[in-house]
Amino acid sequence: MESGLIRTLLNLLFLSSLECVLGSVVQQHSHYYSYYFTWTNAEANCRSRSMALLTQQSEFDKSDITTIRYHTWIGLKGQGGQARWSDGTDYDDPREISEYETCAYLTSPSHAIAFGSCHSNFFFYCEKSGPSHSSIAFVPRALKWEDAETYCRDKYYDLVLLKDKDRFDDLPNDDLFYIWTGIHRSNGGDWKSSTGLPIDKNWKPGQPTANGDCVATSNKDMKMINLDCDTLWPFYCFQDNVVLVKENKTWEEALEHCRAMDMANPSLLTSNNHRNDLISISGPLDQQIVWTKIDEAITNEVWTGLRYFVHKWFWVDGTDVPYQDLPTCPVRGQYCGTVDRDNSTIPWNIRDCNEKRNFLCYKKY
Ligand SMILES: *[C@@H]1O[C@H](CO)[C@@H](O)[C@H](O)[C@H]1NC(C)=O
Ligand SMILES: *[C@@H]1O[C@H](CO)[C@@H](O)[C@H](O)[C@H]1NC(C)=O
Repeated sequence: MESGLIRTLLNLLFLSSLECVLGSVVQQHSHYYSYYFTWTNAEANCRSRSMALLTQQSEFDKSDITTIRYHTWIGLKGQGGQARWSDGTDYDDPREISEYETCAYLTSPSHAIAFGSCHSNFFFYCEKSGPSHSSIAFVPRALKWEDAETYCRDKYYDLVLLKDKDRFDDLPNDDLFYIWTGIHRSNGGDWKSSTGLPIDKNWKPGQPTANGDCVATSNKDMKMINLDCDTLWPFYCFQDNVVLVKENKTWEEALEHCRAMDMANPSLLTSNNHRNDLISISGPLDQQIVWTKIDEAITNEVWTGLRYFVHKWFWVDGTDVPYQDLPTCPVRGQYCGTVDRDNSTIPWNIRDCNEKRNFLCYKKY
């Protein structure tokens, strides 16, 4: 037997000890930040972490998106070693207050009072009508402390006073605000998503309007609205567990590479710990994510974990094969599956396993 085949047998013996994996192996994780960014900065921030802004509602856990996630200004300011509420009364927390000017906000997500630069831009709470114990308004606009104070004084009474612990219970906690999505247009052109994933087109009635080239989604009903890209909104970054390895390898070499590589640095091979594998594709969402990944492939087709062995097609990690129409008797040597970078209508191609091409690996959780 040729050595490649022996290796395949060994790999498949490993496979047989696995439980059959049901459903998708492709996973997405979200990471939120407690800050408010312009669209461009939010996009760049996610990208710098190898992540992307939200493009599909399926990526999104709505229960996660509450005001408690974000820092919010309150009517308290520190300077010269002490702090005062906006109504002029002293703040009686014994902690040291800096000599420099600092402004108070509620931290995320613990809602403790903290002091920081007054030039940060946060959402804020206003006292609606009186000096205290009036009802509290939440303002979903990220402003500097002084601008927030001006806003409250113009529209309501003042920034909120939270002198008593029980006032925290009066803070509204069911507020509407927007978060950036990865969807935008250039100079009034077509709407595009920065990941290449399809756009949900779940617009709020009356949207999109002529003004605003960047799209945010409501935290309440997930409806889309277009806004000025320079306004500041919270954002979530999403990451999936799939990487494209842009090296030309045979199917066998690709399998070994996936199983030995470091996900953070796909060209670095570490121990043979089988925490990664060649990709399995078992549903439409998997396919969408896979096609956004192979966009940058150097070869037209890319290896997947689809393999024919002993009269049977399977994914090498044990996932069920959803395709009915795979050849029951493939041409000799044509035992390995690819996806085509340039044709997303064909779910798979069957190719000679000794051809060399790029490949997709995923991380197991
Ligand atoms: C990989 O294969 C592609 C397509 O055949 C080729 O254009 C490219 O130069 C190859 N890359 C390397 C590093 O061999
Ligand atoms: C994609 O593949 C299908 C099926 O082979 C074919 O009909 C179609 O023309 C191809 N599309 C492109 C853009 O090559």
